[in-house]
Amino acid sequence: MILARKVPLLELIDLKVHFPVSSGGFLNRRCGIVRAVDGISLRIMPGQTLGLVGESGCGKSTLGRAVVGLAKATSGAVVIRGKNIDNMTTAEKASERRRVQMIFQDPYASLNPRMTIGDIIGEPVMLHGLRSGKAAVEARVKELLELVELSPAYADRYPHEFSGGQRQRVGIARALACEPDLIVCDEPVSALDVSIQAQVMRLMMRLQKDLGLSYLFIAHGLGVVKQISDEIAVMYLGQLVEHGGRQVFQHPRHAYTRALVSAAPIPDPKIERRRKRIILTGDLPNPMNPPSGCRFQTRCPIASDRCRTDPPQMHYAENRHGAACWRTDELDALMPMATSPEPGPTIPVVPQPIADIG
Ligand SMILES: Nc1ncnc2c1ncn2[C@@H]1O[C@H](COP(=O)(O)OP(=O)(O)OP(=O)(O)O)[C@@H](O)[C@H]1O
Ligand code: SF4
Ligand SMILES: [Mg+2]
Repeated sequence: MILARKVPLLELIDLKVHFPVSSGGFLNRRCGIVRAVDGISLRIMPGQTLGLVGESGCGKSTLGRAVVGLAKATSGAVVIRGKNIDNMTTAEKASERRRVQMIFQDPYASLNPRMTIGDIIGEPVMLHGLRSGKAAVEARVKELLELVELSPAYADRYPHEFSGGQRQRVGIARALACEPDLIVCDEPVSALDVSIQAQVMRLMMRLQKDLGLSYLFIAHGLGVVKQISDEIAVMYLGQLVEHGGRQVFQHPRHAYTRALVSAAPIPDPKIERRRKRIILTGDLPNPMNPPSGCRFQTRCPIASDRCRTDPPQMHYAENRHGAACWRTDELDALMPMATSPEPGPTIPVVPQPIADIG
């Protein structure tokens, strides 16, 4: 019997997104290239969540935007369900694009203030022809509002009448209106209060289970993605430095990830008191002029001469835990972890009644 190979829902192959930068003024000469995403390969299987973390400016949003077609790839490929998006017909592309949606960090900026919630959610239903007739569209809008735990009576209200958490629920409902398989979630809870973050995260996890969704979940810190991710990818200056399952939290194989893990709080007060933080000095280098060798070498506390000249490649161990670091095997001695290295969630997971208040 031949077993069918599971096809990834999304595959990125050596994806690069570069932005040319001009000097401005009369001559407006090109003065450089921002290498926002610089050779990333990743895959997401159906129903799975990939958490993508890294500090501000490392290229997370640009990668997410390239996946949904809002940023143009300079080279490499975005492959959806086994087919390169560049080789699709216009009709195929439109259908696949509908099934890959995005939700944004600022739910207010992403909702048209002059449209009612009903129109905001109903618009994609009509545009994609997913329901025909006014009554069917309205019924679908009500269904979607209930799905995100908002009252259907809110359909006639405007975005400014809602709290941040409610607006993010509307953003999720609008994405769901397209009946997607994959949602790129670009820091969807970063702008919300901690208690509301927990409600929205719980909602997203329930929706994933009920609808079989896949997520590319973007966040600054490991604490947020820990709860929701099957796999985690750590990004630094346009490139992946580490990728794997829970081992990425439990036993990071890259010096940068160790610093990120050491910065996350541990939910045991005794260990938390003894926790040694690895403080990174300096800012993220300019993506127009990345450092030679390992891109992290200018801030890495254990950088060697080789790190300054030779770029390390991603190397996967047998447990499919990959890291791009020359000194992976020496990390336990050079950068030991706290007794319990796994960072606790920054979001409380206390069950709360799910009402339409968040
Ligand atoms: N359209 C653009 N033109 C030129 N540079 C850009 C453009 N979009 C993004 N960049 C640059 O690309 C780099 C990556 O930006 P991006 O927004 O993807 O980072 P990020 O990891 O999402 O950051 P944050 O966590 O702050 O949201 C930054 O240096 C940014 O200034
Ligand atoms: S390759 Fe070198 S500079 Fe880069 S993370 Fe590893 S030890 Fe640090
Ligand atoms: Mg961003």
